[in-house]
Amino acid sequence: MEIQNVFVVGAGQMGSGIAQVCAQAGYQVFLNDLQTDIVDKGLSVIEKNLDRQVQKERITENEKYNIIGRITTSTDVKDAEKADVVIEAAIENMEVKTRIFETLDKHAPAHAILASNTSSLPITEIAAATKRPGKVIGMHFMNPVPVMQLVEIIRGLATEDEVYQSIESMTKSLKKVPVAVNDFPGFVSNRVLMPMINEAIYTLYEGVATEEAIDEVMKLGMNHPMGPLTLADFIGLDTCLYIMETLHEGFGDDKYRPCPLLRKYVKAGWLGKKAGRGFYKYE
Ligand code: CAA
Repeated sequence: MEIQNVFVVGAGQMGSGIAQVCAQAGYQVFLNDLQTDIVDKGLSVIEKNLDRQVQKERITENEKYNIIGRITTSTDVKDAEKADVVIEAAIENMEVKTRIFETLDKHAPAHAILASNTSSLPITEIAAATKRPGKVIGMHFMNPVPVMQLVEIIRGLATEDEVYQSIESMTKSLKKVPVAVNDFPGFVSNRVLMPMINEAIYTLYEGVATEEAIDEVMKLGMNHPMGPLTLADFIGLDTCLYIMETLHEGFGDDKYRPCPLLRKYVKAGWLGKKAGRGFYKYE
C-alpha cells in the first residue's frame, strides 16, 4: 500500500515528534489536537528542532521550509478523511483512546491504517473499538522521537500481515528501526524499563540514597544516558504511574505495584519536567 498522508492525533511531546519525523521523511502530515494553541505549540517545537538542524548544517534553510510546508495543522478529526495512516499519540488512557479510535474509524477512509503510539495498553482492545480491527496496530515511538531509533511494532490479535508490513516499511522510511513484539501489557520496552524506574523510586522512598546518588549510580555504573529519576521526570510521572498500573492490573503480580511515593508526587501535581517539578525542580 502506498502511504502519502499521515494524520497524527495529539500534538504533545510525542505527537509533535512523530509529525516532525514523518514530514522529514517526505510524508504529508496533518498534526491534530483539540485546541489551536496546543497544535501551534507542537508546531513551534518542530520549528525549533529544525532550526537546530539548520544551525548544525544537517539541513538547509530551504529544506526546513519544505518540511514545515508538509505539515498542516488541524483541530478537526474530520481531516482524517484524507489519511492513509493515522498515528494516535493522545494521553495514556484506555477510555480516551477507544473514544478516539471510534471517531477515527468513522472519518478515516476504509483503506487507512489506524496506529496507536500507546506505551502499554492492549492494541487488541483498542482495535475492538473499531470496525476494522485488522487495520489497527501499535507503533510505539520513544522519547525524544527525533533522536531515538526504536519503534516497537505491536500486532493486535486481528492485525493483518499486510498492515504489519506497511508499517514496518514506513518505520524504516523514517530512518528508524522497527522491532516486532506481541500484545502484552507494557510490550517489551515498558515491561523492562518501568519496573526499573519504579524500583529506583522505592530506593528513594526507603531512604537508601538521595535522588542525585541514585541517578549517578545508574549513569556512571551502568552507562545509562540519564539516571532513572531524571528519566521518570522526562517521561512524566503521570505516564509512569499509569504504565505501572497497567502492568500491575495486567499481570496481577505484586512486583509491579507502583511505589506510594510515585502516587504521592502525581497527586501533588509534581508530574516531572513538564510541570516544573518532579524528583527535581526545573526552571
Ligand atoms: N528533541 C529533539 N532532539 C533532541 C531532544 C529533543 N527533545 N533532546 C535532545 N535532542 C538531541 C540534541 O539536539 C542532540 O542532537 P545532536 O547529537 O544531533 O547534536 C542530541 O539529541 C543529544 O542531545 P544533548 O547533547 O543535548 O544531550 P544528551 O547527550 O544528554 O542526550 C538524550 C539527550 C538523547 C535525551 C539522552 O539523554 C537519552 O538518550 N536519554 C534517554 C532517553 C530515553 O531513555 N528515552 C526513552 C524513554 S521511554 C519512552 O519513550 C517510552 C515510553 O513509553 C515511556
